[in-house]
Amino acid sequence: MTKNRVIIILAAGKGTRMKSDKPKVMHEIAGRPMVKHLISTLEKGNNAKDNIIVVASADNADILTAAVAPHKVVIQTSQQGTADAVKAAAPALKGFTGDALILYGDVPLISKETIADLFAAKEEGADIALLGFVPADPAGYGRIIVRLGEVEAIVEHKDASPDEREIRLCNSGIMCVSAPKLFAWLDKIKNTNAAGEYYLTDIIAMCKGEGGKIALIVGANDELLGVNSMEELAAAEHTLQEDLRKSFMAKGVTLKDPSTTFFSFDTKIGKGVVIEPCVYFGKNVTVADNVTIKAFSHFEGATIGESASIGPFSRLRPDADIGKSAHIGNFVEIKKSTVEQGAKVNHLTYIGDARIGEKANIGAGTITCNYDGFNKYLTDIGKGAFIGSNTALIAPVKIGDGAIVGAGSAISKDVEADALALTRAPQAQKPSWAAKFRAAKQKLKEQK
Ligand code: UD1
Ligand code: MG
Repeated sequence: MTKNRVIIILAAGKGTRMKSDKPKVMHEIAGRPMVKHLISTLEKGNNAKDNIIVVASADNADILTAAVAPHKVVIQTSQQGTADAVKAAAPALKGFTGDALILYGDVPLISKETIADLFAAKEEGADIALLGFVPADPAGYGRIIVRLGEVEAIVEHKDASPDEREIRLCNSGIMCVSAPKLFAWLDKIKNTNAAGEYYLTDIIAMCKGEGGKIALIVGANDELLGVNSMEELAAAEHTLQEDLRKSFMAKGVTLKDPSTTFFSFDTKIGKGVVIEPCVYFGKNVTVADNVTIKAFSHFEGATIGESASIGPFSRLRPDADIGKSAHIGNFVEIKKSTVEQGAKVNHLTYIGDARIGEKANIGAGTITCNYDGFNKYLTDIGKGAFIGSNTALIAPVKIGDGAIVGAGSAISKDVEADALALTRAPQAQKPSWAAKFRAAKQKLKEQK
């Protein structure tokens, strides 16, 4: 812990406007809960060793404790507003005389640079460093009242007069305050306002009233969007996706139609990768150099090796490990399986709990039957094996190196290396049968 800094993240609010049972700050942006975006930004910045305290409600404390571990969680017993929420951190900060940075769990995209600027402004001698912004639509935000160049107060949207609502400069919610002053002010805040809540924002007018110094920093809109509704969650997702797309393109990834590519916060992509339109990256996907990803593919938890070709319409699920130069084609689903170098699974196939050896070829419509309704079993396909189309591989089963499985087989026993295995019924042929059949049917029709 840095002696002079503490960071309090407010996350106890009911999030009523989300109309969701999930705690607001656990809603995900690019696959990561909002509150974890904040924790990660702090950990990446200079704040990793600061004392981070998350304010939770009794209802969401268990979920938040697990999400933000090992950081401390304190409980705000009843949700009476942002001032009351900060107060919940007071017992954990007895005797602390440094600066408290207050972050709102529903303002998740702030950057480490802006946080550093705020601490710097505070440390230059302000009592409060306040972070404002000028959103395209200020509705709903607290307005920052500035007179003669000085911040005087924050008026919440609900309490603002029509004139005040014309003000474009808004409160991001984020501020850095000297802790002893903060807790003294919090004790004096009243809830005589439109919401009947204890507003943290009231400390601005209190500070000003005592002749204190307030430093104002105006941050970038994209970082400071508040998320109070599903519509705002979608706006934050859009903003972060735009950032991710730009950063991948800046690293040399080709996105044929950037606005249709969706990334996760942790997607890793190498050099020379080409991504066609409509591709979705869920959590924990790694793509090596020079991979081509064709349109309409969906990935989560997968690793794609160098120069592989994936799609169109491929689905790679957790623990799909695709080797160098392998080909995975249309309507192929792969789960918890290793596809070794140069193997091909090109059409309409399900591969689950399997190993596919180097340069093996898996025919159209092959299914690994990996589940009997109770347990999962492995399928092991050797190097250079050839699996004919429409084969059911009934696991556990092993296909030796270089073996060939005839099309349409249901394979439930191991196949030796270099053997041919097939389970097809012998083909019957009845000469002229079809012609006689048609003639008989036609005659019957004419008699009617
Ligand atoms: C708040 C600010 C507003 C600002 C906006 C920025 C106040 C009074 N208003 O409004 O000036 O423009 O954020 O996005 O601060 N929370 C608790 N306990 C509570 C209430 C809230 O922990 O009792 C937490 C919420 O989980 C949330 C944050 O505090 O993370 C902000 O609360 P919210 O109700 O979203 O405030 P806004 O109406 O957005
Ligand atoms: Mg909010």
